[in-house]
Amino acid sequence: MSRKILVTSALPYANGDIHLGHLVGYIQADIWVRFQRMRGHTVFYVCADDAHGTPIMLRAEKEGITPEALIQRVHGEHKRDFNDFGVVFDNYHSTHSPENRAYAEDFYTRLKAAGLIETRAIEQFYDPVKEMFLPDRFIKGECPKCGAADQYGDNCEACGAAYAPTDLKNPRSAVSGVTPELRTSEHFFFKLSHCADFLRVWTASESRPGVRRLPIEAANKMREWLGRDAGRELADWDISRDAPYFGFEIPDAPGKYFYVWLDAPIGYLASFKNLAHKNASISVENYTDASKAAESQTEMVHFIGKDILYFHALFWPAMLEFAGYRTPSQLCVNGFLTIDGAKMSKSRGTFINARSWLDQKLNPEALRYYFASKSNGSMEDVDLNFDDLIARINSDLVGKFINIASRCAGFIEKRFDGKLTAIDDAAAQAFIETWKEGSISAAFDMRDYSRALREIMRLADHANQYINDKKPWELAKHEGKEEELHRVCSTALTLFRDLARYLKPVLPAMVSQVEDFLGIPPLDWQGAWQPLPAGHRVNHYNHLMTRIERARIDALIEANRATLAPTDSTAATKGSSVNPSAQPAAAESSPTINIDDFAKVDLRIARIVEASHVEGAEKLLRLQLDIGEEKPRQVFAGIKSAYAPEALVGRLTVMVANLAPRKMKFGLSEGMVLAASNPATPGIYLLSPDSGAVAGMRIK
Ligand code: 2FM
Ligand code: ZN
Repeated sequence: MSRKILVTSALPYANGDIHLGHLVGYIQADIWVRFQRMRGHTVFYVCADDAHGTPIMLRAEKEGITPEALIQRVHGEHKRDFNDFGVVFDNYHSTHSPENRAYAEDFYTRLKAAGLIETRAIEQFYDPVKEMFLPDRFIKGECPKCGAADQYGDNCEACGAAYAPTDLKNPRSAVSGVTPELRTSEHFFFKLSHCADFLRVWTASESRPGVRRLPIEAANKMREWLGRDAGRELADWDISRDAPYFGFEIPDAPGKYFYVWLDAPIGYLASFKNLAHKNASISVENYTDASKAAESQTEMVHFIGKDILYFHALFWPAMLEFAGYRTPSQLCVNGFLTIDGAKMSKSRGTFINARSWLDQKLNPEALRYYFASKSNGSMEDVDLNFDDLIARINSDLVGKFINIASRCAGFIEKRFDGKLTAIDDAAAQAFIETWKEGSISAAFDMRDYSRALREIMRLADHANQYINDKKPWELAKHEGKEEELHRVCSTALTLFRDLARYLKPVLPAMVSQVEDFLGIPPLDWQGAWQPLPAGHRVNHYNHLMTRIERARIDALIEANRATLAPTDSTAATKGSSVNPSAQPAAAESSPTINIDDFAKVDLRIARIVEASHVEGAEKLLRLQLDIGEEKPRQVFAGIKSAYAPEALVGRLTVMVANLAPRKMKFGLSEGMVLAASNPATPGIYLLSPDSGAVAGMRIK
């Protein structure tokens, strides 16, 4: 029976780059989606940016732009990163969207009508300077248990203790540095405590025979958590936040906003709804409405990381159930990424940006293959060991899979005009004996990609053994052996095609090249081991992948070490100049560029004709810069701490003239001035040219 599945991946926050840790879960989901489609099932795969919350609001402020401008920029970056790793969504939306607002209000109205929303006054830390309530993560102080300094308001990184922010000794606001005060405000709560009976049954249930809604480890955890005799009560869930907040205002409560985690999972539905606007054949209700979903037997499958299990196993199903929506069919939960057995680390250069992998010209499908080879469908962490990755790619993909084509394609092209002949039946038969198609499919379906790839590589070994035994390179040297050479190479290419078929969910771009080379329509799961007809013509073979060299990986690690902002304070300085993201921390550790890279930057002598304070900006000055154009350029520079505006007027400095203009909260910034700073010592120093230089001169 053909399945109809709505698949989602966790929504990344709209204030940070996609890194390799993110990619583990997205690649696992994307492989599953591609596999199900190849099987003939209908799958919609959606995602979105998680665009709300205090960190995004503060980050935008720090950059001197609006939250809307920030999330729009990041949206483009995230989409491009996913796409370049072959993670292809049917729709990539945003939680800051009209669809999501409508859904969030609808959930709220329905839950309220069901008597599941109540208000309560609570006491919280308030920053009197920033005039805002502080989330736990924005309060720092000494751990109440071990006394460690500089710990967050929710738990201690030194001793692991969990506590309330009010327990911290000497608390201070991480936003302004002042001592926060306790203030009372009214909050909205979702009465999760009333959903415990439902959740007890739901978390232990199957959505269809043999398919648990939660992985067994997670279901067990939930049973402990929800167990009647555990002596625990499910606490009601605080779903509101006070202004200032970047999110959706609660309809009947001015100044109160939905907490980011309320509208985040709703964003799955909003992205799907937005897709349906573009594709009229989709009936959203068949996937989202409780009764229609049951009737039309649709599924909703969420891929998430283990850190957000509680939201998806408790809050989300309870919200769905009691608002009359369908609940998830399955949560597919992945573990964290470790690198060489340790947490990703900025100082070791193992906190690796997705983009930098591509910048180092490393093949994105090498990472897909490696992550797949380490994924067994469980919640275990996935460890990335670079030497292991190199060995695995070079031996499995280059040495086994690609090797089949590269040893045979040339003969077919040169000796037989690109045409295949009838294949070697005995060999094909022996091959089919070894083939456990059933178990490859089952492994993919259960997300045990590691087993699927082991099976596929076993078949690749078999195909290589056949070639080794037949030695086409010897046959090619002997007269009278043409026919055999033709048959051996045609057989090998048929085996190659079917290995490509099974690798396609993992290596979509490479297999698309294989399809072009073989001159065949897109491969799906049907038709394995049906020989290509005699006389079928293949195209010229281009090499599919080169070996990975250790030097590339070393450069990758170096690049990630070098591009880090070493401390928050330098990040803040950069955040307030024009381009916060792309600057290395220290000049001596920057990667080498060539002269062409440098020539791209249009540096000009600029005369500061006006300088003024910017209302509402802590770090910025507004400069008008004459570079010999018709009218001066406006630039916002994060130099307020170092310069009085009046002291700047008339002086010459250096600006980047061809930086894309950026819309900031205060106006358009049309370039960037250059200044020196050092994370270890305070101070910002504008550059000046030697005497004689005039405004508009190019710096080379
Ligand atoms: O933990 C996170 O990165 C969240 N942005 C995930 C949200 S997933 C879903 F619920 F929206
Ligand atoms: Zn502690």
